[in-house]
Amino acid sequence: MEVSKFTYELANKGNYGIDAPPVVRNLSLIGILLIIAAGIVFSINGIVWRILSILFLLGGIVCFAEVIMMVWSSKKGKRHVVKKLMEQLRVKESDTVLDVGCGRGFVLHSLAKQLSSGKAIGIDIWNTSDQSGNSPEITLQNAETEGVKDRVDVIDADARALPFEPNTFDAIASSLAIHNIADRKERQKAINEIVRVLKTNGRVAILDFQYVAEYAQMLEKAGLTDVKISKMYFAMFPPVRIVSGIKK
Ligand SMILES: C[S@@+](CC[C@H](N)C(=O)[O-])C[C@H]1O[C@@H](n2cnc3c(N)ncnc32)[C@H](O)[C@@H]1O
Repeated sequence: MEVSKFTYELANKGNYGIDAPPVVRNLSLIGILLIIAAGIVFSINGIVWRILSILFLLGGIVCFAEVIMMVWSSKKGKRHVVKKLMEQLRVKESDTVLDVGCGRGFVLHSLAKQLSSGKAIGIDIWNTSDQSGNSPEITLQNAETEGVKDRVDVIDADARALPFEPNTFDAIASSLAIHNIADRKERQKAINEIVRVLKTNGRVAILDFQYVAEYAQMLEKAGLTDVKISKMYFAMFPPVRIVSGIKK
C-alpha cells in the first residue's frame, strides 16, 4: 500500500550552483565600484562630497548585502521553500513526476528521493545565465551523488513545447524557471503545456518570484481546481510564492 508522505527528504549531497550568476556578478562589481568611489570622494574636502561618499558607501553595502542574500538563497533558503513545494505535490512512490526547468536538479532529485518504482523527469534548455554551470551532465552527476540516478531522466526541451503525451505525469514541479520566458503569451504556452501533460487528479506546484498571480489565473483558465497562491517566503531572495493546483 502506498502512503502519501508529509515529511520529505530533500537532495543534500549534490552541488546545485548559484541562481542568476550574472546578477550576482554585476551586483558584486557595482558594490566594489561604489566603495572605491566612496573612498575617492571622501578625500575631497566639503560637506557635499562627504555626504556623497556616505551615499556611495551605503550603496556598496546594499549591493553586497543583496549578493549575500542571493547566494544564501540558492544554497540554503531554497531548501526551506522546496519542502513547501513538496508538501503541495504529495508525491507517491510509484508516481511519474516532471520538473520543468530542472537546472542542476535540486528539485528534481528531491522529488526522486520520494520515489521507489516511479520516475522523475527533468526538462531544461540549460541556460548558464539562469544557473551557474548548468548542463544535463552536471544534473546526472548530481543524481548519481544523491543515489537517485536509476529514477531520473533529463531531456533537452523547452517548457513551451513539452515532448510528452497528454496526461503523462502524476505531479509537475517548476522552480524559478517560467519567469525566464519574457513574453506573457509564451508563458501562457508553458502553463498550457504543463496542464496538458498532467494526469487527471495530478498536482502542479510552481515556485517563482514573479508572475505568480498570472500563473494562478492561467491555471484556473486551463481548468485546474483548488488553485492557491501561498504566502510569500522570505527564506529566498528575491522572496517567492508557490502556486499550486489540481487537474480534475
Ligand atoms: C534559476 S534556474 C532554476 C533551476 C532549478 N529549477 C532550481 O530551482 O534549482 C532556472 C532554470 O530554468 C531554465 N529555463 C529557462 N527558460 C526555460 C525554458 N523556456 N524552458 C525550459 N527551461 C528553461 C534555465 O535553463 C534554468 O535551468
